[in-house]
Amino acid sequence: MTTRPAPQPSAAAAESGRAGSLIRLVNLDKTFGEGSARTWVLRRVSLEVREGEFVSIMGPSGAGKSTLLHVLGMHEGGWEGEYHFLGEPIHALKPAKRAELRNANIGFVFQQYHLIDDLTVYENIEMPLSYRNVPKAERAGIVADVLDRFQIVGKKDLYPRQLSGGQQQLVAIARAIVADPKVILADEPTGNLHSDQGREIMELFRRLNAAGTTVIQVTHSETNASFGSRIVRLRDGWVEGESPTGTAPTTES
Ligand SMILES: Nc1ncnc2c1ncn2[C@@H]1O[C@H](COP(=O)(O)OP(=O)(O)O)[C@@H](O)[C@H]1O
Ligand SMILES: [Mg+2]
Repeated sequence: MTTRPAPQPSAAAAESGRAGSLIRLVNLDKTFGEGSARTWVLRRVSLEVREGEFVSIMGPSGAGKSTLLHVLGMHEGGWEGEYHFLGEPIHALKPAKRAELRNANIGFVFQQYHLIDDLTVYENIEMPLSYRNVPKAERAGIVADVLDRFQIVGKKDLYPRQLSGGQQQLVAIARAIVADPKVILADEPTGNLHSDQGREIMELFRRLNAAGTTVIQVTHSETNASFGSRIVRLRDGWVEGESPTGTAPTTES
């Protein structure tokens, strides 16, 4: 990984933000549809994630996990409430400024991968480096290193459609980590991997986390969750409870 200066929060952000707070949501609501067809997908979600945490979001299908991760990743608009990221009020920022913060700080693994169809594996992985203004000459070495680490060197000139689901998922993870983001947001990142590969990815996340990267993952797997230190449980859009990992789940039914 290269070393490059981490983007610093603005002076105003430093003043209003709490030390160590990376993400703070206050009463965040997300709805789809209008009028009588309006449905709530996230309901008064309040959540704080500090720099350097490794958090798992769990809950039944349809609970709003992916929606929450997309809001955190600044991919999703149309929500109400407060979202503070590194002390910056995301709810008050224009889309261009949100995109700037996202590109500088966030690596995102989509549940459906969302690789770019007409770019090769190599080009997909290289893309976040161009957002981060890493010089072209430096990019080749960084991408080569990641291809090697993920054991996909032989796939670098293939297009996403030429890969299995598991291989696409690996490329999506490689793309999320290549630019050394401050935070990794990963939506069921091992759902299509063999158990050995899944374990390797969790170990990679643990190493990155030990080196300071904040990790927030959505998972159905208690084993995957055990790599983190805290579980946030969602149900029907509500935060149902939080628990440290390794304790009995706090589900109610
Ligand atoms: N674009 C959309 N339009 C309408 N409803 C949506 C949309 N995206 C998600 N939903 C609904 O929001 C709820 C939560 O979805 P999601 O966040 O994908 O849940 P999870 O990831 O926990 O399975 C589901 O009921 C889903 O149908
Ligand atoms: Mg989902």
